[in-house]
Amino acid sequence: MFTADELREKYLEFFKEKNHAIIPSASIVPENDPTTLFITAGMHPLVPYLMGEKHPQGTRLVDTQKCIRTIDIDEVGDTTHHTFFEMLGNWSLGDYFKKEAIAWSWEFLTDEKWLGLDKNRIAVSVFEGENKGKDNEIPFDKEAYGVWKEIFEKNNLPIERITRLDREANWWGPAGETGPCGPDSEMFYWVGDEKNVPESFNDDNDSWVEIWNDVFMEYHKNEKGEYVKMEKQNVDTGMGLIRVLAALNGLDDNYKTSLFVPIIEKIEKLSGFEYGDGTDEECVQEKGQCWVDTRKSMRIIADHIKAAVFMIADGVEPANSDRGYILRRLIRRAVRQGHVIGVEENFTVSIAIVVQGLYENIFPEVLNKKVLAELEKEEEKFRKSLENGLKKFEKVKSGLTGKVAFDLFQTYGFPIEMIKEEAKLKQIKFTENEEREFEAALKKHQELSRTASAGMFKGGLADTGEETRQLHTVAHLMLSGLRKVLGEHVHQRGSNINGERVRFDFSHGEKMTDEEKKAVENYVNEAIEAKIPVQMSEMSVDEAKTKGAEGAFENKYGDVVKVFAVGEYSTEICGGPHVENTADIKGRFKIKKEQSSSSGVRRIKAILER
Ligand code: ALA
Repeated sequence: MFTADELREKYLEFFKEKNHAIIPSASIVPENDPTTLFITAGMHPLVPYLMGEKHPQGTRLVDTQKCIRTIDIDEVGDTTHHTFFEMLGNWSLGDYFKKEAIAWSWEFLTDEKWLGLDKNRIAVSVFEGENKGKDNEIPFDKEAYGVWKEIFEKNNLPIERITRLDREANWWGPAGETGPCGPDSEMFYWVGDEKNVPESFNDDNDSWVEIWNDVFMEYHKNEKGEYVKMEKQNVDTGMGLIRVLAALNGLDDNYKTSLFVPIIEKIEKLSGFEYGDGTDEECVQEKGQCWVDTRKSMRIIADHIKAAVFMIADGVEPANSDRGYILRRLIRRAVRQGHVIGVEENFTVSIAIVVQGLYENIFPEVLNKKVLAELEKEEEKFRKSLENGLKKFEKVKSGLTGKVAFDLFQTYGFPIEMIKEEAKLKQIKFTENEEREFEAALKKHQELSRTASAGMFKGGLADTGEETRQLHTVAHLMLSGLRKVLGEHVHQRGSNINGERVRFDFSHGEKMTDEEKKAVENYVNEAIEAKIPVQMSEMSVDEAKTKGAEGAFENKYGDVVKVFAVGEYSTEICGGPHVENTADIKGRFKIKKEQSSSSGVRRIKAILER
């Protein structure tokens, strides 16, 4: 039996032997990217380096990155979907390319010293190319195919197991609208009968499990949507730790791997149910009722509490918007599922302790004191209203309207997916019509109270809403104000913007005085009141520099950059988005907090008071 620790250690060790620097996982909260709430892939925190910024640890990197994906949250409860997962990855930043990347992937997978997988159970795919004969042709990845062909021939394996697939399957990126991207090559492992491995790979056969993805970032997608070949080519690879662990051990259920078994055992003890007794049905029909599948509940609890531990460890707290609301939903849904399988006492803390034990060696931050404290607090709070909310549900029977659902949400703190689950369980009608009604009630409420940012309730990731746009322009004005008031040594060191506030790091050695803060506020508010158009123009980095444009990350953008100018108030290199005119910025700019971030770097939290 392969354990997670073994697989992780082997991966890092293998690439260390190939001169890669082992770098620590970044926080699951993105540092400088206002467009997503969480890190969703290993390459995500490395984007600036994939775009050309120099990485302090060199051109070959390897790590295991903590990731959160909420896009499949409704699928959690089956055997393979998770909100939290680890992605192993190795990177070449303009260093090695296809030949080495593929050869090393093969060596790691099959060499006895490493994973020692059966070569006969491996299939691979490469990009087939598109738009043949046209201007925008991207050719078949002959090079990757050639490298694989040589390997397969040398090992007397059927060439048919190298398959050519289209963009849908074999292209990765860019992470945003523009940026580095390219064809990839996926590796699959046959988990079916080892004596009957098919002669060729077949996308529709679930027994071929994807275990690794090598992305060859040789293109840059520009603003016009064109793919331009890059001078510097990168490699980005991703291997989902849990998925591979299950495949290697011949398990049909990720919850049977070493990173879940102790958690499931704890839930078994708490509930008195055995995991093995569950079924994989949506629900078990009996006596005209839909009975819960205990196995599914156990999985949801295990997944959600694990994700919650990692979120809190990286500084997220339960709240009514953005990340905090995702965290709140995860905890509440876990508590509800606990209730479903008969756990009446508070239990999230006892499960979190098991999670801490599983991960403290590799991610010591899970021991952050806040983890247990926040879970305890949130569970306590929600349990109080859970009983009452469920009573209300009992009364509803057939009449669960969107309005009642909104009341359950608003008064009893039931997240929408929990309402839907509950309705299903009780066989109460709740269709799209009711959901639309719920959304309408929610919208009206938000317009009235202007609290949590819209969209987040649906589990959406990006918040490029109007408020964010306004704060983005405000951040430019603030940087300019800081440079005016404190001096030219001030540069941006990081920023994080959501619909409610801007968090901004900048180089400066000491605490700002109240007068200085006031002066910066005045500068920004003056620009807002002056109703100035925000103008965007594209130019070369050199030209932008000559124009005095500020841009902390200018070297990552490539040749042509966008420069946003707000009259005389600010000129800065940036990707946007911004308001069209400072008149669109609603409210007065206010610095709420100014504190040290790290040595020589200060951090401001600022808002628009409305
Ligand atoms: N970035 C690639 C992925 O996430 C490796 O699959």
